[in-house]
Amino acid sequence: MLVRRCAIVLVEPREHLAFDPQSLADGADGLRATLSLVALAPHLDDEVPVDTDDVAALAQIAPGAWSDLAGLYARHARATLDGLVEKGLLISDAAAHAAVRARDEAVRDLNWRGLSAVAHHFGRWSGVRSGEEAQRAGVSSLADLTARLGPPPPAVRECAAPGARIALERAPGGAFDDLLRRRATCRNFDAQALLPAATFATMLDRVFGAQATVDAAGATILKRNSPSGGALHPTEAYLIVQRVDGIAPGLYHYHALNHALEPLRSPDPSALAELASRSVAAQDYFANAPVLVALVTRFARTFWKYRNHAKAYRVVALDAGHLSQTLYLSATDLRLGAFVTGAINEVEIEAAFGLDPRTDGVLAICGFGARAASRTAVELDPLGRVWDAAGNLVRE
Ligand SMILES: Cc1cc2nc3c(=O)[nH]c(=O)nc-3n(C[C@H](O)[C@H](O)[C@H](O)COP(=O)(O)O)c2cc1C
Repeated sequence: MLVRRCAIVLVEPREHLAFDPQSLADGADGLRATLSLVALAPHLDDEVPVDTDDVAALAQIAPGAWSDLAGLYARHARATLDGLVEKGLLISDAAAHAAVRARDEAVRDLNWRGLSAVAHHFGRWSGVRSGEEAQRAGVSSLADLTARLGPPPPAVRECAAPGARIALERAPGGAFDDLLRRRATCRNFDAQALLPAATFATMLDRVFGAQATVDAAGATILKRNSPSGGALHPTEAYLIVQRVDGIAPGLYHYHALNHALEPLRSPDPSALAELASRSVAAQDYFANAPVLVALVTRFARTFWKYRNHAKAYRVVALDAGHLSQTLYLSATDLRLGAFVTGAINEVEIEAAFGLDPRTDGVLAICGFGARAASRTAVELDPLGRVWDAAGNLVRE
């Protein structure tokens, strides 16, 4: 059997602290520390416990060239090497290991930077209910946070004495300033209202649609209303449509060149609502928006140019941030509410849309739709442009 090391693996030393009554009885701090090593390899679904023999073997077996396993037994314990093959950290050419080999090849072929691949893969959530966890930890409001953690660092950095600062004029005001000031994260959607089809189409066109294309040197480049690193626009819109007039509730992909919806699946209404809730980690004030959009990055598109590049993953995350701001402003202009959230269960979203996280990464979820007439969930509107003092929607 031939083997090679998997393309990317990071070994992390961990310390686990557990309550130990004996330590307390001995007059110590009551805690027992256990040290361990875990291997984080993005072609595997879970982290893998390893020991120092495993690490020594992994360090000495090349990821690029195939070696004969029987020949390696002369240098490393057989149990260590066989264990590494079973764990999927050594990739074999055997038919029995084809699935792991294919996942490793997907990572290899994509030109991932090792640290970025590990950060992306092991930052994903499944089954998290973020609000409830914050409540359990006693940190669900600003008052809870400051009571537990003390005040946060100051709101701004001060680099000069007040008298040394050069005062600047405020923006003159105008339609664009008004639009910016009305932008706020919506946590109060009208749970019944249908979004008109034309409004929905305008939103997708403005935020994700190709406004123009340039075909040059064998490549097609999109022009969108947001900037994108390398002009590559790797981020696609995968939609959970819940209430849009004339469009069957279900899962869709948006085709940015054709400005068209590609139907994927239509789960029954309760399954769709459940998926929406799971997607946003049970933040139900977001889950009932008429449209949720998963921002899904096709890594191959950006990593085609930025190969094994230290900045590439950061750049695609920044791209997603720009799209979300364009979505906020487009929604605000249409008198709609909008949100973005990073508290998402990527694993459930990937399963629903049939995405492999090694090739297509869910970076955030946005949503939009009509606001409710009154505010029940907290929003940050100190300018009073969205809600009046009584918590009612300000209509213009
Ligand atoms: C990257 C990102 C992630 C966010 N994630 C969440 C989230 O998980 N839950 C939430 O309620 N708001 C989330 N927000 C919204 C912020 O809480 C919101 O922008 C902030 O409170 C300021 O309010 P404003 O957007 O109304 O000005 C997120 C915003 C950004 C930019």
